[in-house]
Amino acid sequence: MAFATITPLSDRVGVEITGVDLAAPLDDAQFAELRDAFDRHSLVVFRDQRLTPDQHIAFSRRFGELEIYPLRQFTLAEHPEILIVSNVYEDGKPIGLTDAGSYWHSDSSYRPEPSLGSLLFAHELPAQGGDTLFVSAHAAYDSLPAHVKNRIGGLDAEHDYAWRNTIQSTNGTRPKMDDAQRAATPPVIHPVVTVHPATGRPALFVNEAFTTRILGVPEAESRELIALLLEHVSRPDAIYRHAWKPGDLVFWDNRATQHHATGCPPEMRRVMYRTTVKGSAPVGLGVASAAAR
Ligand code: SIN
Repeated sequence: MAFATITPLSDRVGVEITGVDLAAPLDDAQFAELRDAFDRHSLVVFRDQRLTPDQHIAFSRRFGELEIYPLRQFTLAEHPEILIVSNVYEDGKPIGLTDAGSYWHSDSSYRPEPSLGSLLFAHELPAQGGDTLFVSAHAAYDSLPAHVKNRIGGLDAEHDYAWRNTIQSTNGTRPKMDDAQRAATPPVIHPVVTVHPATGRPALFVNEAFTTRILGVPEAESRELIALLLEHVSRPDAIYRHAWKPGDLVFWDNRATQHHATGCPPEMRRVMYRTTVKGSAPVGLGVASAAAR
C-alpha cells in the first residue's frame, strides 16, 4: 500500500511526493516505493522538508556512496559531501558555486562513473527567479529521427570538467582549478546513447557543459552532431520548469535527465545544498543490445 502521495509534474518527467518526512528513518518498503518512483519518473520533488546536513546526507546515502565535488572550497567544512550552490558573497568571497549549472548538463558526466542522481535542498530562496529547468534524456532520445538514432547508436563522446572550468574561469564566474584539481579530473569517454541500469531505457548522454567532442568522426561532423543533439535536448516544449518552494528537496536522475539553472537577481539570496550520489560506468546501446541477443 502506498505510503506517500505521488502526483505527476509534467508529461515526460517528474513527480511530486507529499506525506513523507525524509528526516525520519524510512523502512525498507517505504524506501523501495521512493526508489521505484525515482527510477520510473527520473525526477522527484519532496515538499515541506526540514533537513539538517546530517539528515540530507543520511537520506542521500541510502541510494549509494556520495561524491565530493572537485572544487572542495565550495563544500561544507564539516560535511564535504554537501556542495553549496549559491549566489551569496561573504567578505567579498563566494560562499558556494555561483554559476552551478547555468547551462544544460548532467552532474558528473565528466567522471569515469558519472552520478546516479543529485539531491538539491532549498535553504534560502529568492523572491524572484531561481527556477531550475529539467528535460528527460529518455524522451530526448526517443523523439530523435530514426536516421539520427542509427548514426549515433554506437558512437562515443569525450566529457571534460577542466574544459568547462576553463570557460567559466575565463568569464570570471568560477575560480580556475589548481594543478591537483585538474589532475584529478582528466577527460573521460562515454557512449553517446546510454542504457539506464534500472529500467533498460535508452538515454541521450551528450550535454552542453562537459561534452567536448564525438570520437571516430571528422571534427566538423562532431561539432555539427553535438550542436544538433544539444538543440534537440533543450527544445522548449520538452522542458519542466521547477519553481522552488521553501522546504523542497529535488532529487533528479543524472542518467535520465539534464538540467539548467536559470539564476536570479544578484541582490537576492539563493542558498542551496546539494549531495551527489555516485553511479556506475555507463553502458552504451550497442553493448546492451549485443548482450541481449
Ligand atoms: C545544479 O546544477 O546542480 C544546480 C541547479 C540549480 O542551482 O538550480
